[in-house]
Amino acid sequence: MRNFWHHIKNKWLLTLLCGGLSACGSTDQIRYEQFMINGEQHYLLHCANCHQRDGKGLRDLYPPIAGSDFLKDRKRVVCVIRHGMSGPVTVKGKTYNQAMPANQQLYETDIAELVTYIYGRWGDVDAIIPADTIRGILENCQVSE
Ligand code: HEC
Repeated sequence: MRNFWHHIKNKWLLTLLCGGLSACGSTDQIRYEQFMINGEQHYLLHCANCHQRDGKGLRDLYPPIAGSDFLKDRKRVVCVIRHGMSGPVTVKGKTYNQAMPANQQLYETDIAELVTYIYGRWGDVDAIIPADTIRGILENCQVSE
């Protein structure tokens, strides 16, 4: 993952230097980088307090995102971001039992950027996860209210 950041940083620099000239990297690549950068901002603003900047969580209070099995179920992750979760949960062999707040204020595009960032950094997807996909998932969340 360190290599990945190195990679991104260089490419971002390249993007800045190129100033959008088509000779320097594809539009898709630039869009992806924008998603990653915006996604990081959302993460720092809405998630890092608890899960920490490095995604490793905090003591017995907040579970890690980095290396969590939860990432295998992308739909569940998207629904958890929107609706929060509570009750005991085991992540990487450790049990947590605090409430995670809902995020009703986030737009679908915000969640798309956020989820793109999470999967780009800690998951196995290095492409945009679009807002349409997020919308489809959110329509089918099973919320117990
Ligand atoms: C106020 C602290 C807090 C904030 C802010 C928060 N979470 Fe959580 N999160 C938790 C807690 C606590 C749990 C476990 C809930 C439980 O015990 O059922 C959790 C669980 C999770 C899980 C499932 C378990 C795991 O670790 O894989 C994911 C994924 C997750 N949060 C992602 C996020 C994302 C993304 C954000 C930002 C939008 C966020 N959280 C914001 C506290 C927080």
